[in-house]
Amino acid sequence: MSSHSPGKSPIKTDGPRFFVRYLLVKLSSVGLTDRSMVDHLLGIEGLSKTDIYRYLDAAHSFVEVSERDIKKVPTLRGKTIVHVFFEPSTRTLASFDIAGKRLSADTINVSAGSSSVKKGETLLDTVRTLESMNPDVLVIRHSESGAARFASQYLSRSSVVNAGDGSHEHPTQALLDLLTLRQHFSALKRGIEGLKIGFVGDVRHSRVARSNIWAHLALGNEVRLIGPSTLVPREFAAVFGSSSVKVEHDLATGLRGLDVVVCLRMQLERQDEHFVPNLDEYSKEYCVSERLLKQLAPSSVVLHPGPMNRGTEIAGEVADGHRSLIRRQVNNGVAVRMAVLYLLARTVESHEVGVKGE
Ligand code: CP
Repeated sequence: MSSHSPGKSPIKTDGPRFFVRYLLVKLSSVGLTDRSMVDHLLGIEGLSKTDIYRYLDAAHSFVEVSERDIKKVPTLRGKTIVHVFFEPSTRTLASFDIAGKRLSADTINVSAGSSSVKKGETLLDTVRTLESMNPDVLVIRHSESGAARFASQYLSRSSVVNAGDGSHEHPTQALLDLLTLRQHFSALKRGIEGLKIGFVGDVRHSRVARSNIWAHLALGNEVRLIGPSTLVPREFAAVFGSSSVKVEHDLATGLRGLDVVVCLRMQLERQDEHFVPNLDEYSKEYCVSERLLKQLAPSSVVLHPGPMNRGTEIAGEVADGHRSLIRRQVNNGVAVRMAVLYLLARTVESHEVGVKGE
């Protein structure tokens, strides 16, 4: 994925173990919201509590827009947003597209399957080509960890939003998860600080977990990573450099006393080897059931980023039950993405004004 080696990424997803790959991405980081010519949202790592609340407060205002009869405001009229998706998506792509349209921006979708990527064009050539058409924001999903950051380093006029890069980060998913929790806990006269949150399942391959963990650490929350040692190695706790992250291999012990349980999808498409004997054995030990939640975390709520494997990581009765906030997460995806597009496209405008005024 460099200009000199077509199709190759400086951060590979094959060969080296995940832990090494993750450190490589960390080392390539220079702050997740770059403040050079334009701003980007590349990850949650490095964002402050204030940054996070800025996105959540903006999203809160956009929730109301989505509930109106006429769900459209002129905020980004004249702006162009390009979604460049090299991996499949239902929720993220649809909600970014709806978000851009509700803000009156012009949006277009470029998918790997129907683009010149099929003819061998590299990520870099693709995003540079698209930038030549002067979009204000490029929303990028890619299977390689570090892809969005890599693209952002070669663009000077377009903001980049990371819509999921390999096993690295999925920042807008973490923000919509936080907005969902904020709505739930504010109705109980609690905020989203001081929570105990557990991530159950395939933490190893989960960009959703990684973005969420950074967010919860910024908020001062206690984080438990729960799953078999193959999917949640002990050393994962150290990656985040915080004593607030604990690893637990026994599901019942991990669930005890949690406020929030996040069920993670078993990401078979990212697994280059067998991490569990088979899915039946896995679900016997790690499928989150109502019986366990009732007993161990009776007032907990449950999140799942989707798509779900019912009966593997989450029981159907939990997904559809009284503690599930899953549909609310999807609903909030639009408001959060409106907030992100608004804050980034507005920043582009303020830079432009600055340049003109010089
Ligand atoms: N949660 C999520 O990213 O879903 P999609 O893959 O459908 O976008």
